[in-house]
Amino acid sequence: MTTDTTTTAATAESLLDETTFVTDGYAEVFARHRRDNPVARDEKYGRWMLFGYDDVRQAYLDQRLSSKDGTIIGGSLNGQSDSASNRMLICSDNPSHQRLRKIHSPLFFRSMLKATDTATRQRLAEASQQFAAGGGGDLLSAVLQELPVSFLSLAYAIEPADAARLVRLSERLIGYADPRIGDAERPAARRAEAHLELLTAIMKLNARGAAAAGCPVAAPAERADALAEMKEQLQQDEYLYNFLNVTVGGNDTTPYTAASFTEYVLGRDTEELAESWARDRTGFLAEVFRWTSTNAYVQRRALCDLEIGGQEIKQGEFVVLWNYSANFDEAYFGPGFTPEVPHSRPHLSFGVGAHRCIGAQVAAVEIECYLDWFFSRAGAMTLPGPFERLHSTFMRGYTSAEVGMAG
Ligand code: HEM
Repeated sequence: MTTDTTTTAATAESLLDETTFVTDGYAEVFARHRRDNPVARDEKYGRWMLFGYDDVRQAYLDQRLSSKDGTIIGGSLNGQSDSASNRMLICSDNPSHQRLRKIHSPLFFRSMLKATDTATRQRLAEASQQFAAGGGGDLLSAVLQELPVSFLSLAYAIEPADAARLVRLSERLIGYADPRIGDAERPAARRAEAHLELLTAIMKLNARGAAAAGCPVAAPAERADALAEMKEQLQQDEYLYNFLNVTVGGNDTTPYTAASFTEYVLGRDTEELAESWARDRTGFLAEVFRWTSTNAYVQRRALCDLEIGGQEIKQGEFVVLWNYSANFDEAYFGPGFTPEVPHSRPHLSFGVGAHRCIGAQVAAVEIECYLDWFFSRAGAMTLPGPFERLHSTFMRGYTSAEVGMAG
């Protein structure tokens, strides 16, 4: 996107506070930025922010913008860089990133996706029996948090119960500043505790060794070799950091995507949307990911002076790429959920370029399982009120999702 180069870097109101997505009217604030101030500075956090689709996409592809100092504000315990820099996928640059990506790609083989599909459908069916028997309740904890369990269990050869525990710990990490599941008064301390809890749990599971006997679906034969080879090629800290990356990357995202979608659909014409899902599953899935935009932003750091949209970004400055805003850019997308309209640009929910979400296909499998589950039961489900939104700027999530369900 080109902007008049005479524009000054106006200070935006801070959208990087943890309350952004719990505040009514945030969509209008982002829309205003796209229109008036598409490349703006957040003085409170000392960061540049990109709001328009073209700028965000271009920034993802720009090698002068580095990931190695952390892609989430506060994602590391050290604010200026990341303790796992160049040792964990998400916060590494080439050549380290290429190496890590190659080593991890066998975990995402087609056979793993197939096993994940079968196991996830089984878990959803079991969870729904209890949920319906109780007349409904918190869909998030009772059903949606089942979505990431099977892949994690199959990929890392851990018991589903242990994978489920990691899901809960990861939820506490992402929700560190939330008054219900974190600590709004001491967010930094809570984040440190949550990091430690999660890493300790991962280290213990790793020390215990492979044991996925509790998973009803067998992992593909090549998984054992892939895991052994990964351990051989990675230093132990690299193995653990990336186990953590896959855990956090996969654990909260699909449950929140499913929750967001459910809240939207239960307030509308479910049958029409079910027909649309049946007509074009691929298009529908893409629209669910665009419209939910669960990972609201990623962060990069300038390796040299550069210019974006007429603004000069200095070497060492941080830049926030708002996926959420790009996915609603009026140049390419309307404001609503429109699965029938092929958009002129692909959504950016999984990012684009070298760091594009390595788990995007896993996410697609899990949400596909959920949509089949959901549409076959939607007629029996009711929405008593809005879901409780998570206090997080990074993750557009929830702390609970109350739904009624007839048995
Ligand atoms: C709705 C679901 C998901 C969304 C919206 C999402 C979003 C993203 C985004 C935007 C990135 C790019 C980060 C960057 O460029 O800095 C990313 C990377 C990543 N995601 Fe996902 N993700 C999802 C599901 C998953 C799942 C299911 C897994 C694992 C099973 C996963 C694991 C990862 C990992 C390990 C990376 C780092 C990749 C790299 O840096 O090479 N994600 N994800």
